Amino acid sequence: MVLIAPSVLAADFSRLAEEVKSVESADWLHFDVMDGKFVPPTTFGVEVVESLREKSKLFFDSHLMIESPEKQIKAFADAGSDLITIHAEASTDLAAHLRQIRGHGIKSGVSINPPTPVETIEPVLSEADVVLVMSVNPGWGGQEFMESSIQKIEWLKKNFSGTIEVDGGITAGNIKRVVGAGVDVAVAGTAIFGKQDRAAAIAELRAASE
Ligand code: DX5
Ligand code: ZN
Repeated sequence: MVLIAPSVLAADFSRLAEEVKSVESADWLHFDVMDGKFVPPTTFGVEVVESLREKSKLFFDSHLMIESPEKQIKAFADAGSDLITIHAEASTDLAAHLRQIRGHGIKSGVSINPPTPVETIEPVLSEADVVLVMSVNPGWGGQEFMESSIQKIEWLKKNFSGTIEVDGGITAGNIKRVVGAGVDVAVAGTAIFGKQDRAAAIAELRAASE
């Protein structure tokens, strides 16, 4: 069964702890960290992950959309991340930085933007526990799912034995297709936090994936 990872980017930041409690029936909690350089917006840093750690039992999935990610790996690991994902486009030594993440005893992830061919990460796949396929250009929630991600997921299903995660534009209308292509974990921001009843939204995504 596909795992559901609500993205806190779409939550109400004025009541973050309650928002996180409202999605406790999910599997992972996805944190979109943006630095205003790798992507135009800035969001939040390690303090948000750290302060929510004691409020949730979910698996903490930190998606770093930042330049020089190696400088922040330790802080995000110490804050309680179970997985840290860095971008292939942002890292100057991807294999070393993925090893650095694993060195903290947590899962390592590598993400690729829509224009980046999936084959470019083939040399580092043995260092990654998770590959995160971006199905929108990173920076904002609420964008439309890009079809080009499907071929990348299919390629990973054949060439990667780890966990395949998809991020961007996931809805009850397209989750079955991405799961059929090979996705293990689906990130959803708007499709969960945009609904009043979060447990129902999570259940709807799970039901639609089968
Ligand atoms: C985009 C982020 C996504 C985003 C997904 O840069 O990485 O995680 O929050 O939001 P939705 O599900 O609304 O497309
Ligand atoms: Zn994300």
